Amino acid sequence: MCGIVGYIGNKQTAPILFEGLRRLEYRGYDSAGIALLQNSRLVVRKKIGKVSQLEVSFGAEKENIALGTSVLGIGHTRWATHGTPSDINAHPHTDCNDEIALIHNGIIENYGAIRTKLEKEGHVFKSATDTEALVHLIEEMKKYSGDLETAVRLALRQVEGTYGIAVISSAEPDKIIAARKGSPLIIGVGDQENFLASDASAIVDHTRKVVYLEDGEIAVLSKNSIDTKTIDNKMTTKQVEQITFDLAQIEKGGFPHFMLKEIMEQPETLRNAMRGRVLREEGTVKLSGLSDVKSVLEHAQRIIIAACGTSWHAGLVGEYMLEHYGKIPVETEYASEFRYRNPIVKPGDVVFLISQSGETADTLAALREAKQKGAAVLGICNVVGSTIARESQGGVYIHAGPEIGVASTKAFTSQLVVLALITLMIARQRGLPEEEGRKICAQLLELPGKVETILQGAEEIEKVAEEFKDNSNFLYLGRGYNFPVALEGALKLKEISYIHAEGYPAAEMKHGPIALIDNNMPVVVIAPRDRTYEKIISNIEEVKARRGRVIAIVNERDSHIASLADYLIQVPKTVDVLSPVLTIIPLQLLAYYIAVKRGCNVDQPRNLAKSVTVE
Ligand code: G6P
Repeated sequence: MCGIVGYIGNKQTAPILFEGLRRLEYRGYDSAGIALLQNSRLVVRKKIGKVSQLEVSFGAEKENIALGTSVLGIGHTRWATHGTPSDINAHPHTDCNDEIALIHNGIIENYGAIRTKLEKEGHVFKSATDTEALVHLIEEMKKYSGDLETAVRLALRQVEGTYGIAVISSAEPDKIIAARKGSPLIIGVGDQENFLASDASAIVDHTRKVVYLEDGEIAVLSKNSIDTKTIDNKMTTKQVEQITFDLAQIEKGGFPHFMLKEIMEQPETLRNAMRGRVLREEGTVKLSGLSDVKSVLEHAQRIIIAACGTSWHAGLVGEYMLEHYGKIPVETEYASEFRYRNPIVKPGDVVFLISQSGETADTLAALREAKQKGAAVLGICNVVGSTIARESQGGVYIHAGPEIGVASTKAFTSQLVVLALITLMIARQRGLPEEEGRKICAQLLELPGKVETILQGAEEIEKVAEEFKDNSNFLYLGRGYNFPVALEGALKLKEISYIHAEGYPAAEMKHGPIALIDNNMPVVVIAPRDRTYEKIISNIEEVKARRGRVIAIVNERDSHIASLADYLIQVPKTVDVLSPVLTIIPLQLLAYYIAVKRGCNVDQPRNLAKSVTVE
């Protein structure tokens, strides 16, 4: 989704902005632009397409050679919401006199009314975006306030919706004004220079020291100072925090794609998710982020899990885990539905929000809704310091490291492991015998090695991908813990290869999807030897009876399914509750190889965004 980067200091700004924009590319976007200030002159360049296209056309302009000395600027990658992707609709947007430039993440909901009013007063609009209304409103407010900061504050008071913004003006060429409500903004603190970004990856090669802007705050950045206030003009005090990841983690490290790198990293990311947390001898876990809410969890009557996309699939597995071992009713909700249907949430309920980015707008809104209704809200996030993590009353980081590929892989398996840890903690509180706990701990600790074994078989999966790469439809079937894996496997395939794929509970196939099965239909069946094993064999028979082609994910030495399936992919055996951590790995690889063979842009699939910060 949209990305913001800004710089003020003594260095050449354009290269810093282009580098930052390139690091934001993974979020998904359709156009990009920059605004620089030099000799009290505003220079804006924007273009549909890749950052590299913008950079090449910028570099080709002779007059921009002089811009090498610019020491202040802002840059943006846009993911279209209002107005199609185009040069004109790309950010930055400027006022009537080309004096003020603005970049914006989020949505200005009342832009229509603002635009109509301002057009009547003589403002001339150039684009079809909601954002342009805000820059003209700032221009209008400046007529009364005189200074840019007050004008931004007055304008924001009239705006409904969400925003993370950066504003510069040729009339005040020594500052960047930033503000946020609902869209994240981070200030990078340097020596005689400061940075601004919507995502730490854009500035991490310049500084690890950051200040997180809160909702309703405005910051004024100069090269030597950072002043923060509320939108009501009250000064705020900020803490400088450290970003823990380094550059190597956000680079490909020799892999052709981030997605493959992240799939291959999973043995390590699973170890990181468990490090210091699994108390094998005691058959339980230690989760310090939940220590303050231990008794809330012990006495909770109900757990709700709210999430979107892949995180929602992890939540569904978590529901099965928690109900089975914790003996507690659990509902997993799409965050977007949860927030708008006036859900029954009571004090004493526990709501887990699962989000890799920690910034997904719908999940954040679900958190706020649940908190306002008195529930304990707990985050399961990857990005340290993200909004959901900060607004939660407690939680567990998954520690998967930066995930750059838009299609989530390593975050999913780490979410599953963290959900298993939480399940074990709650189950032990509620009477699960120590011996049972020890067994699960032992199996948890064996997962990374088992994932390594599956990854060693990647070449075999690539051969299956070659066989099926030209199919237009896929069906994924699973039962029990592996039903959500069927959903996630299908999602992976459609996200990056644009093949239509559906995930179904295997037994539901006969209530509809069975009509689709013929000898052209590949059916991926996830069938480890668990408590639904015998049942799923019958489902495979049903597919074969209609000449469907079966790719089965099975445990080692499964001669029965070997005699039925067309292709067999083996995964090591583990306890049922943990089997999704293993069965999803071949499905990630299958989707990856199919997408590569179809020539798709694996890391930045069309229309998708990594972090969805609009509703
Ligand atoms: C987007 C991404 C998905 C992700 C979902 C939820 O749609 O493309 O990969 O699963 O958002 O993101 P979150 O950061 O909240 O886990």
